[in-house]
Amino acid sequence: MHPFPLVQPYIPAQRSTVGVTAGELRHAARHVLLRNWTGSSTVPSRGLYPHQWSWDSAFVAIGLRHLSAVRAQRELETLLAAQWGDGRVPHIVFNPSVPLGAYFPSPDFWRSSTAGAAAGAPSDVETSGIVQPPVHALAAWLVHRADPVTSRRRGFLKRLYPKLAAWHRYLTTHRDLGGRGLVSVVHPWEPGMDNSPCWDGPLARVEPVPAGSFRRADLDHGCAADRPTDLDYCRYVRLASDYRDHGYDDEAAPHPFAVEDPGVNALLIASEHALARIAAEIAPETAPGTAPDPEDHRRRAAELTDALVARLWDEEAGLFLCRDVRSGELIPELSAAGLVPLVVPGLPPRIVRALLRTVGGEHFGLGSAVRLVPSYDLRGHAFDPCRYWRGPAWFNVNWLVERGLRQYGQTARADALRASVLAAAASSGFAEYVDPYTGAARGTREFSWTAALALDLLARNADRAGVRAEVRAGLRAGIRVRSGEAAVG
Ligand code: SER
Repeated sequence: MHPFPLVQPYIPAQRSTVGVTAGELRHAARHVLLRNWTGSSTVPSRGLYPHQWSWDSAFVAIGLRHLSAVRAQRELETLLAAQWGDGRVPHIVFNPSVPLGAYFPSPDFWRSSTAGAAAGAPSDVETSGIVQPPVHALAAWLVHRADPVTSRRRGFLKRLYPKLAAWHRYLTTHRDLGGRGLVSVVHPWEPGMDNSPCWDGPLARVEPVPAGSFRRADLDHGCAADRPTDLDYCRYVRLASDYRDHGYDDEAAPHPFAVEDPGVNALLIASEHALARIAAEIAPETAPGTAPDPEDHRRRAAELTDALVARLWDEEAGLFLCRDVRSGELIPELSAAGLVPLVVPGLPPRIVRALLRTVGGEHFGLGSAVRLVPSYDLRGHAFDPCRYWRGPAWFNVNWLVERGLRQYGQTARADALRASVLAAAASSGFAEYVDPYTGAARGTREFSWTAALALDLLARNADRAGVRAEVRAGLRAGIRVRSGEAAVG
C-alpha cells in the first residue's frame, strides 16, 4: 500500500501558463508542501523519494517558514533528531511505515543501527550512513528570522546550536581527507549531484557490483533517460556497502572516492557564517562562561574560504573545480557546483568578477543561451539536457546563484533569475529539474524544494504586483510548456 493517501493532481495538465499570478503560484506551492508533509517532516516527493532527505529538508524549511514557523522548525528538528553520535547528519532518515521496496537502498541495506553503532548511529531510527551538503545552519537561521518570537519561545536555536556545531565539527575533522582544511565527500550522493560528470573520473576506479544484484526502485517512478545509469548505480552500491562494512568509520574505510567539492564547502562556509549569527543570538540566554563565541565561527569561515580559494579556484576556467583527493588533481569538468561559492561572503573581488563572467558566458549561458543555470557545462562533452545532474537546471542551485548574484550587487541579474525560476516552477508543475533550454519538466513533479524555494522567492519581494509582472514576463519570455506536461494555470 502506498504510504500516503493518493490525491488527485491539483494542477490540471495542458492549461495555459500565461496569466498565472503570484497568488496562484503561492497557493499551488503551498499545496505541494502540505501534501508532502508527513506529520513531522516533508518528503521530497511522495513516489520517488518517500523518506526524509537531509539537504532537501533544509531547503524545504526555508520555504515552509513562510507558511508556518513551527512546521519549518520541526522539519529541521526531526532531521537532527537522527544525528549520529560522531556528529554526522545522515542523508536519509527512513520512515518506518514506508515499505522496504518503495526506495532503494532501503534501511536493510544501510543497517545503520547495527553497522553504524560504533560511530554513534541512533538505535531508534534507521538512516543512511552518508551525508549531504551542510545547508542546515543557514536554513535554521533563516527559519528563526521569519518568526523570532516563536523561535525564542520554543528555544529553537538554543536546542539546535550544539547539534549544528557538532555536525560542522564532524565534517571539518573526520572528513578532511586531503588534510588541507576542506571537506571531502566519499560518495557521489553526498554532494547531492549524483551523476555529475565531475565524478566520472574518480568513479571509474570503483569496481561496480554485479548488475542484477539489487533492484532499483527509482525507475518505478520516472523515465530512465532522466536518471543515472545502471552502471552508475552498480558503483554507488559498491561504495556504500564498502563504507557500511567498515562500520562507517572514516579512519578505517578506504574511501576510494574522495573529492573536495566547491558546492559542499561553500555551503559549509555560508553555514559557518550563519552559526556565528546563531551563537550571537543565543549568547544572552546561555549560562555565563558557556556561551558560544561567534568569533570562532567567523574564524573557521575565513579559514575555509582561504582553503577553498587555494585548493579549488581555477583561474583559467574562471570557476571553482572539484579536486580528486586520491589523484591530487583538479577535475577538468565545469559544473554548477563551481558557481555555488557565490553564496560565500567576502570572496576576493577578482574571483567574484570572474564568476560573474562565467555564469553568463558560453558554458553556463545565463541570460543569453538559457534563463536558468544548467547543472553542467552547456558545451561539455557529457552535457545531456535531461539526465539528472548532467545538464538539467535545478531549482536549489538557481536559488543559491540568485542569492549570490544579489549578495554581490547584481540586482538586475538576480531579479531576472528570480523571475525565470518562478516561471519555470509554475510551468513545470514544480518539477524536480528542467531542460535548461526549453524549461520542459524532467524528473518527478510536485517536488518539495522546488515549491519551497518558489515560495521563498515570492516572499522576497514585498511588491506583489511587481512579482506578478515578473512571473508573467518570465513565462512569456522563454518557458515553453510541452503538451501533456503539467502547468500552473
Ligand atoms: N539522489 C539519490 C537518489 O536518487 C539519493 O540521495 O535516490
